[in-house]
Amino acid sequence: MPETVRRTATRRHYLMCRPTHFEVSYAINPWMDPDKPMDADLALAQWERVRDLFVGLGHEVSYIDPVPGLPDMVFSANGATVVDGKVLIAKFRHRERAAEADAYRAWFEEHGYSDIKVPEYVNEGEGDFAPAGRRILAGAGFRSDPGAFEELRAFFGLPVVGLTLTDPRFYHLDTALCVLDDDLVMYYPAAFSDESRAVLRELYPDAILATREDAEAFGLNAVSDGLNVVLTETATDLIEALRARGFEPHGVDMSELLKAGGAVKCCSQEIRDT
Ligand code: ARG
Repeated sequence: MPETVRRTATRRHYLMCRPTHFEVSYAINPWMDPDKPMDADLALAQWERVRDLFVGLGHEVSYIDPVPGLPDMVFSANGATVVDGKVLIAKFRHRERAAEADAYRAWFEEHGYSDIKVPEYVNEGEGDFAPAGRRILAGAGFRSDPGAFEELRAFFGLPVVGLTLTDPRFYHLDTALCVLDDDLVMYYPAAFSDESRAVLRELYPDAILATREDAEAFGLNAVSDGLNVVLTETATDLIEALRARGFEPHGVDMSELLKAGGAVKCCSQEIRDT
């Protein structure tokens, strides 16, 4: 058991989108079933709880206006990837979400960002791209095109570690892996190809490994500030493992947003200005 280290939080900036128009009206991942009842008021309350937690932890939260007809826009992590104040806009795989990209582009333009790239290849923002210290972990297999990896590397000037996702339930990297700090991650090995598992083992020998139950509970779709980790409350083994490693887990109920295949991380896009 690795010894407990003293963790420190750093203040983050998250872009969030209120789930005003949230519903499950189509199915583009295995979790979505338009015939299953969803409580929109409860979804909003759960989203507000996550937002309140971020604010309470001292983070800055910005808001992008929800657009009618874009029910998945609440999953702001997918809209762009921002590192060093540079913005790589998303290009969505499914036509149902395609128009979100323009809304995110407009938001960054209106908020004074000038280094904005509209990509050539499909990429679903932080859904598949996870900046980790001075490298970026990048997932492909279901959504982002592996061709986006070179675009990512060239635009940010950072090394990109490409990872292959193999289980359709873990269709975005952020459903299978969470960056806890610059050199620590937690992930679900069975969501990755053999080669990618070997890469992760090599890069992160101390990683926290999730059980199947916790991965299916979306416990890896979490947000860490280096100390506090906000994640689904049902991921009980992860919560215990995080505590044992000196983190402060904050469990939340995400039952309604889970019906669209999203949880805490999906609702928060980190804006890394410097
Ligand atoms: N229904 C959305 C989709 O399938 C969920 C996106 C979740 N976002 C995420 N960052 N994993 O695209």
